[in-house]
Amino acid sequence: MTLLAPSILSADFARIGEAVKWAEEAGADIIHVDVMDGHFVPNLTLGPQAVASLKKTTRLPLDVHLMVERPGDFIPLFLDAGADWVSVHVEASRHLHHDVSLIKSSGQKAGVALNPATPIQLLSEILPELDFVLVMSVNPGFGGQSFVPSSHRKISDLRKWIRERHLEVQIEVDGGINLENAAALIDDGAGILVMGAAVFLSADPAGVIRQAKEIFQRRSQP
Ligand code: DX5
Ligand code: ZN
Repeated sequence: MTLLAPSILSADFARIGEAVKWAEEAGADIIHVDVMDGHFVPNLTLGPQAVASLKKTTRLPLDVHLMVERPGDFIPLFLDAGADWVSVHVEASRHLHHDVSLIKSSGQKAGVALNPATPIQLLSEILPELDFVLVMSVNPGFGGQSFVPSSHRKISDLRKWIRERHLEVQIEVDGGINLENAAALIDDGAGILVMGAAVFLSADPAGVIRQAKEIFQRRSQP
C-alpha cells in the first residue's frame, strides 16, 4: 500500500515533537524532514541536531530530504543523527554515485530527488542503485505551493521505466499533495506521498492523516 509521509515543514517549529507524535498516532508511516541550506533553495530549515532530537520522539522512519549544495558533506551527519531514508538532489550532487553509495553503506534507504524541470532520463545510470526516486511536484523551498500538473506524466513514465527494467525502486512524490489529488497520484504509480500544508495547516491534522490513509487503502494496487 502507498505510504503517507507527513512533512513537518508546515508544522509549528516550536512544537515539532508533538506534531510528530500526533502524526504517528493518527497513522502516518514515515516522517518527511525537509533540510534546506539557503543556497540550493532560498530558505533555511533544520539540521542534524533536530533530526537527532526527532529520532527520540518517534519510532517512525525519518525521511530526510536534503535540499542542500554539496550533499555528500552532510550525509554522514544526518546518518549519525538517525536518518532512515536520505535523498539528495540530482541537480545539487556532483558525485551522485558516491553520495548514493555513502547512504547505502550505512544500510539506510537511498533516494535521488528531481526538480519539476529535471528529466527522469538523468537517472539512467543510477536507477538500479536506488531504493526510491523523489519526484518533486513543486519547485523546492517552501510548503503550501500548488501541484505542478506535468508531474502526473512524469510519475507514470518513471513507473513504466522502472517496470521495464525489472527494478524495485519506489516512487515518492512531494509537493502540493492533498486529499483531492492523492488518488490520481497513486494511480500514476506513487508509492509514498508527502503531505505538508494539507496536514499541518489544517484545523484537524490527525483527521486529514486518517482520511488520506483511507484513500490510500481504497486506491493502492496490490
Ligand atoms: C518543499 C518540500 C516539501 C514540502 C511539501 O520544498 O520539499 O516536502 O514540505 O509541502 P506541501 O505538501 O505543503 O507542498
Ligand atoms: Zn520534501
